[in-house]
Amino acid sequence: MTAITLRLKGCRKAFADGTVAVQNLDLTIEGGETLAILGPSGCGKTTTLRLIAGLERPDVGQVFFGDTDVTRLPIERRDVGMVFQNYALFPNLDVAGNIVYGLKVRGIAPAERNKRCDELLELVGLPHHGQRSIHELSGGQRQRVALARALAPRPKVLLLDEPLAALDAQLRERLRSELDQLLRGLGITSVFVTHDQGEAMALGDRILVMEQGRIAQLASPREIYQQPANAFVAGFVGNLNAFSVIDRTAHGLKVCGGELPWHEPQLPATVYCRPEHLQVMESEGHLHGHLVAQFFQGAQSRLLVDVGGPQPLLVDSRDNLLHAVGAPIALAIAPHTLFTLHA
Ligand SMILES: Nc1ncnc2c1ncn2[C@@H]1O[C@H](COP(=O)(O)OP(=O)(O)O)[C@@H](O)[C@H]1O
Ligand SMILES: [Mg+2]
Repeated sequence: MTAITLRLKGCRKAFADGTVAVQNLDLTIEGGETLAILGPSGCGKTTTLRLIAGLERPDVGQVFFGDTDVTRLPIERRDVGMVFQNYALFPNLDVAGNIVYGLKVRGIAPAERNKRCDELLELVGLPHHGQRSIHELSGGQRQRVALARALAPRPKVLLLDEPLAALDAQLRERLRSELDQLLRGLGITSVFVTHDQGEAMALGDRILVMEQGRIAQLASPREIYQQPANAFVAGFVGNLNAFSVIDRTAHGLKVCGGELPWHEPQLPATVYCRPEHLQVMESEGHLHGHLVAQFFQGAQSRLLVDVGGPQPLLVDSRDNLLHAVGAPIALAIAPHTLFTLHA
């Protein structure tokens, strides 16, 4: 089976109270791709997913599965599997009952149902759990069952709406990497909604960052992080230091606390860098200030350094040297790690 391409064309969705949840959405998801939709609460992620699923119909625009216009088809005729944040399993059915539910509805014979159920239990790491009651399962196990149930009818498209959000941090990370392997192994076209940037980076072949119902940026995780399209994207996918430019100098830009290396022809009003790109130096650096606070984080330390600007700079340092509060700190930066942003 070749994986199917999804396409949203000029989709808009407003609700009865006038809320415009999604507007002007043009989007192609390639066959076999995992697209992560990332954004703050209320930006339109779930609505986008529901438009793809057929749980909502766009006011304007079309949805295509391959070359087929499915805009008017309900969910049961779209061949999609869905996994939600809150499991949504049938509590009165056992694990196997939940997994084969969709197969029963489709009239698939018991022998075939049971075979597929065993395969899926194996796939999601719950072999021999078919007879368990849903109440006996942990949150992580329930989400595995929900995933197996969604995959049972062999859908063309898998849609996941914050499936890991209700799990604790450690389990979330483990399930995330299992899910990543599973999606890659299946080669199924999938859309994964999350408000967690780490999850989007880890799972998405590409990330769609949404802001107020629109696409803020659609690109690879690397590009989103290293070349954010605007300040919203940059701030959402990591921490940012902003430098207001006071003046141009012979070799750079005069900013609070020193001079940044800058060889570009344009003179920006503000330049930015990520905390891990500021390097703590012995004595000489581009910027000079003093330590406000230091937080030990295991593999690295987060330093807050006051260089006289409106906010202390965030510095992620891997050397883990302990500095005294108030101690002078010199910072260096490589010119290529500085970037500018559109508003
Ligand atoms: N059924 C609905 N009726 C009215 N407003 C809705 C409905 N569903 C979603 N919304 C609104 O649409 C916007 C987008 O919601 P949603 O797609 O659920 O965002 P997200 O999943 O990113 O949190 C929000 O302002 C939300 O309040
Ligand atoms: Mg949502």
